[in-house]
Amino acid sequence: MKTAEIRSRFLNFFEKNQHKIVSGGSLVPHNDPTLLFTNAGMNQFKDVFLGNEKRDYTRATTSQRCVRAGGKHNDLENVGYTARHHTFFEMLGNFSFGDYFKEEAIRFAWTFLTVELGLPKEKLWVTVYKDDDEAADIWVNKIGVDPNRLSRLGDKDNFWMMGDTGPCGPSSEIFYDHGEDVPGGPPGSKDDDLDRYIEIWNLVFMQFDTLESGERVPLPKPSIDTGMGLERLAAILQGVHSNYEIDIFQSLIKAAMRETGCTDIENRSLRVIADHIRSAGFLIVDGVVPSNEGRGYVLRRIIRRAIRHGHQLGCTQTFFYKLIDDLIIEMGDAYPELDKLSDHIKKVLKIEEEQFARTLENGMAILNDGIKALTSDVVPGELVFKLYDTFGFPADLTADVARENGLTIDVEGFEAAMAEQRKQSQSASKFKMDRDVDLALDGATEFLGYDSLVAESQVLKLLSGQDAVDSLKAGDTGTVILDRTPFYAESGGQSGDMGQLTAPGIKLEVSDCTKLQGHHLHTVTVLEGELTVGTQLTATVKREERLNTARHHSATHLLHAALRKVLGEHVQQRGSMVAFDKLRFDFSNLEAVTPSELREVERLVNEQIQANTSVKTELMDIDSARDAGAMALFGEKYDDEVRVLSMGTEGFSKELCGGTHVERTGDIGLLRITAESGIAAGIRRIEAVVGPYAMAQLHAEDDLISQLRGTFKCSTEQLPSKAQASLVQIKELEKNIEQLKAKMASAAAGDLTGSAVDVNGVKVLAARLDGVDAKSLRTTMDQMKDKLGSAIIVLAAVNDNKVQLAAGVTKDQISQVKAGDVVNAIGAPIGAKGGGKPDMAMAGGGDSAKLDEALASLVDWVRTKLGG
Ligand code: ALA
Repeated sequence: MKTAEIRSRFLNFFEKNQHKIVSGGSLVPHNDPTLLFTNAGMNQFKDVFLGNEKRDYTRATTSQRCVRAGGKHNDLENVGYTARHHTFFEMLGNFSFGDYFKEEAIRFAWTFLTVELGLPKEKLWVTVYKDDDEAADIWVNKIGVDPNRLSRLGDKDNFWMMGDTGPCGPSSEIFYDHGEDVPGGPPGSKDDDLDRYIEIWNLVFMQFDTLESGERVPLPKPSIDTGMGLERLAAILQGVHSNYEIDIFQSLIKAAMRETGCTDIENRSLRVIADHIRSAGFLIVDGVVPSNEGRGYVLRRIIRRAIRHGHQLGCTQTFFYKLIDDLIIEMGDAYPELDKLSDHIKKVLKIEEEQFARTLENGMAILNDGIKALTSDVVPGELVFKLYDTFGFPADLTADVARENGLTIDVEGFEAAMAEQRKQSQSASKFKMDRDVDLALDGATEFLGYDSLVAESQVLKLLSGQDAVDSLKAGDTGTVILDRTPFYAESGGQSGDMGQLTAPGIKLEVSDCTKLQGHHLHTVTVLEGELTVGTQLTATVKREERLNTARHHSATHLLHAALRKVLGEHVQQRGSMVAFDKLRFDFSNLEAVTPSELREVERLVNEQIQANTSVKTELMDIDSARDAGAMALFGEKYDDEVRVLSMGTEGFSKELCGGTHVERTGDIGLLRITAESGIAAGIRRIEAVVGPYAMAQLHAEDDLISQLRGTFKCSTEQLPSKAQASLVQIKELEKNIEQLKAKMASAAAGDLTGSAVDVNGVKVLAARLDGVDAKSLRTTMDQMKDKLGSAIIVLAAVNDNKVQLAAGVTKDQISQVKAGDVVNAIGAPIGAKGGGKPDMAMAGGGDSAKLDEALASLVDWVRTKLGG
């Protein structure tokens, strides 16, 4: 049975049993800062388990793409060494949200495996949590599993946690026995980590939420979360033992053989490459790009590990990106986005490959030398760090090489070196949970702001800082929670509304509005009177700011769509900020957007603005929205019922969005892009303004130009040539000045020679030529030497308070006096130092106030030298 068929058989089985087929989420978990990558089917349902979110179904089934590399569930190191570990895999799951529990979950799983797929019961083995008598009883007495084929295991095996925090519970696992010819023992025996008994399905009885403090509290309702590895099941149904022998992997391994020239199909490096092209490909599809932190770094580790294995197979050319076409053949039907983004994926991989290839060879040589010189079986932490720091070898790559040589790496030593570096660069991990204040309020604030900017509301709660208070009085700042409000709370990048809350004798300024636990939090300063809980008031949003915010928000949608049209469909929103006076839009793109591309984007957006079509808002369920091609935004979590915003001609833009928008695109007025920059590896930022702010920006540029016209006294058209001509003229003038200075210096030199003093037949002269540069000092010096015949000369110049000294000695005198000694003898008292050749030396620096005195000392100094 092909892998694709197994996937659909599973989903259809649960659909027949009243489960809703829900599409799997992105590998980048939206709105869950505690999670690096989607690592289980339940991730997208986390809030449903916790009771923070309601859906209109209580049973669901999914096929979820997962990555287990980095983070709590990390299999990267095991890939290539076992028959069943992957960085990327597909998890089939069925879920109950407070609907059925243990017995039905166990029955569904057993029926699917033994009836629907017809697996022999005697090939299956089950485990339960050590004191879960209820689950053991169901398996043995209700299902009829042989008690000799059931093990009870502890926390490590039979208690599942999504991460350090979040939903968790005891579990029951189903194992498949691959037969006597494979080494290994049943779960709980000493050889259970070998490959004979392989876990295929994990049924988690979700009962608790682990808090950040470590405390475990019960979930609102016991629930079910299951996960079955699609590749493991495919291995069984295709009659093979290793996952790497199933249809998908065999094709990818053959492709890797083709590209690397390796002919040994059993070679472990081929399996690593076949596994890693899947995770790398899908991570890039979901918007990750290689970088040095967080998700991007995990992707980099995966790619580099694959490239290193290719190198080990003797492949010195770029090869990895070429496997994307083979991946599309295998998985493109189930995941059409692979094909759509194939050019982008290949480009990202190729760039990373070329970059790493430059250091791989040298790094490997250093690592191999280091390994040869080892006296123990541990690669020292400093070497691991050096390879990381200088050659871009992630530690797990070095560990991989070490393991092939029967060695381990000194992880602690490496981490100490890393920590030291991190301390300097302050780049600690950003993944942290934030849910501190409990508002202790049921329900949610009713939001009226799509249709109205004024509402009559009642105060439900007041906060001063994080503490609930009974009242806020004039001068206080705090937070107001109302039963209903027209104030938009910051979300989806759109800033919260500003405005006022008023009641007789009471006036508050609202400077911002945010959302927590379904409630709108109005940030206020009390201007007049005292506000108490229960007060009826009028909430009024600032109209002009709201309209301008809507203009910027609608323009952001048009901008997003235009960028995808001009740059390609790999462009995905990575963040946005929409305020009343500007917008900022961050998106994935490897290179800077060129000026002509920016022009085209700006042109397309303005074309849509001028088309002045009406902006349509529709409410629909999330699946219909996706089917209709609506773009879901990064970092947003959507309810079952979503708002879909469509604008522009011929479906120009369609996005899920909860924000506030203009009625017609023409209301935006005009869009001007003001800046484009890079903010992280592979992430660009565009800043723009619309409506009155775009006009203001144009006016500011106009003013600037008219100022320049005044300065240059010319028309706008003549400005560039005028400016250019001025620059040429300045250069010319500078040259003239230099020539004049040299002429002046030599004229001065002529005058000065007369004042030279004779010491034993040698002419001694010290003089100041202020304003002359070093070069002219030297030419003047040469001229004076020629004139004086036999001479010792010091010339000085002060420019911008800086002293420059030159000493010259004619050739016939250098056996007696060296120019370096002269310049230092004169320079020392003022603090100038220097040196040079025997006939010419220069010195600089020092106190110009003492210069004359120093120069006057030359004659005496020469006298003592020559004995005159
Ligand atoms: N969430 C469970 C797992 O990932 C089913 O194993």
